[in-house]
Amino acid sequence: MIGPIPKTLLPDNASVDNDGMLLLAGVRVDSLVEKYGTPLFVYDEAHIRSRCQQAVRAFGEGVSYASKAFLCTAMARLAYEEGMHIDVATMGEAYVALEAGVPASHLVFHGNNKSETELQYAIDNQVGRIVIDSFDEIDRLENLLGDSGKEIQALIRVTPGIQASTHEYVTTGQNDSKFGFTVSTGWAEEAVERASSSSCINLLGIHAHIGSQVFSLDSFRKAAEVLANLSKHFELPELSVGGGLGVAYLEDEESLSIEEWGRTIKSVCDEAGVTARVTAEPGRAIVASAAITLYTVGTIKELEDIRTYVAVDGGMHDNPRPALYGSGYETFVPSRVLDDRTSRITLVGKHCESGDVIVSDGYVPEGLRVGDIVATPVTGAYGHSMGSNYNKVLRPAAVFVNGGSDRLVIRRETLSDLINTDMGIN
Ligand code: LLP
Repeated sequence: MIGPIPKTLLPDNASVDNDGMLLLAGVRVDSLVEKYGTPLFVYDEAHIRSRCQQAVRAFGEGVSYASKAFLCTAMARLAYEEGMHIDVATMGEAYVALEAGVPASHLVFHGNNKSETELQYAIDNQVGRIVIDSFDEIDRLENLLGDSGKEIQALIRVTPGIQASTHEYVTTGQNDSKFGFTVSTGWAEEAVERASSSSCINLLGIHAHIGSQVFSLDSFRKAAEVLANLSKHFELPELSVGGGLGVAYLEDEESLSIEEWGRTIKSVCDEAGVTARVTAEPGRAIVASAAITLYTVGTIKELEDIRTYVAVDGGMHDNPRPALYGSGYETFVPSRVLDDRTSRITLVGKHCESGDVIVSDGYVPEGLRVGDIVATPVTGAYGHSMGSNYNKVLRPAAVFVNGGSDRLVIRRETLSDLINTDMGIN
């Protein structure tokens, strides 16, 4: 038997009314369903703000929100208001942040293969930092800037040779990686020298990102040691340890706080005598547990002694993580949050493939029926942002709730959105 959904997996401002109905920031979840329909991402705005504040407290000026985790103009604006800079990995992410009124000086531009167009966009907008990832990129920047007299501010992304223990698709610090300049081959050093001697690059520091959904402080410690040594060696004023702090998705998982993560990194750097400004760029840790996704049950198929398939109106288009990485999630019924979850289900979506599983082992209270609302917690990161229009499904809406009110931050797509880029039949 499985008990009620643990409070630790719900957004900070979750509460339950006398009927056992979930409220987020004082807003009843059923009223949100009525107003906006399902599937629906519901974000607890104060929860996100508090994580941004924790990041700023832990790292100080320059800490960035990795916008790939979840981005819309309201989100970019919120992170900026809370004192964060914004990590963007493409021109598209930069565009959204700029549209939100984030000053270009607060953008940190990433990417292992930034196109000329993207670099030109970064130059024209005078983004705060370009994180250089390859020798080809140095060539490209020099070609673009030429004798213009313009100078960009940059960090060099290094590959520290650390194998973080997480899904292989999201490890990036090991030597066998498409990202960055390998430290052990001397490329990192060569890149720093080239960038420092370039007349159009103002090299401010070094950067590394060892992977995502990392739970081991030891991996972060080891990477920080490599970075600390390099930083001292080159005497550059900035050092960024990237993102990657793991988040608990399941009942039996436990995550580190942003504060513990920051403290560990700072202490490694302090012990090594680093004088550079030490920053980071968390994404998941800022938004993942701030949101839940609400779905409506459409069909229930009970295969006796095998499993019960509960199909909902979402699927791999709003959360591809289970299909891509085998990621696990919990399930619960928001109108019965306090009930024991005694019934085992497999939560599936509406796409035409068997891999369209949202939660392979979920638990809900007995007696789930068609038309009921089922929720998955901790869906604030890499759900909406990795969503798609596969099967020409309409991408869901996202709302922020705060202090008893709600505001739509991303509207649900409509059918006409599906042919926005379609050139027609003539
Ligand atoms: N900085 C850089 C350079 C990154 O590449 C990433 C994530 C981050 C920061 C933020 O990492 P976070 O704090 O969110 O872990 N789609 C995958 C995650 C891919 C992360 C890619 N880079 C997932 O759903 O698990």
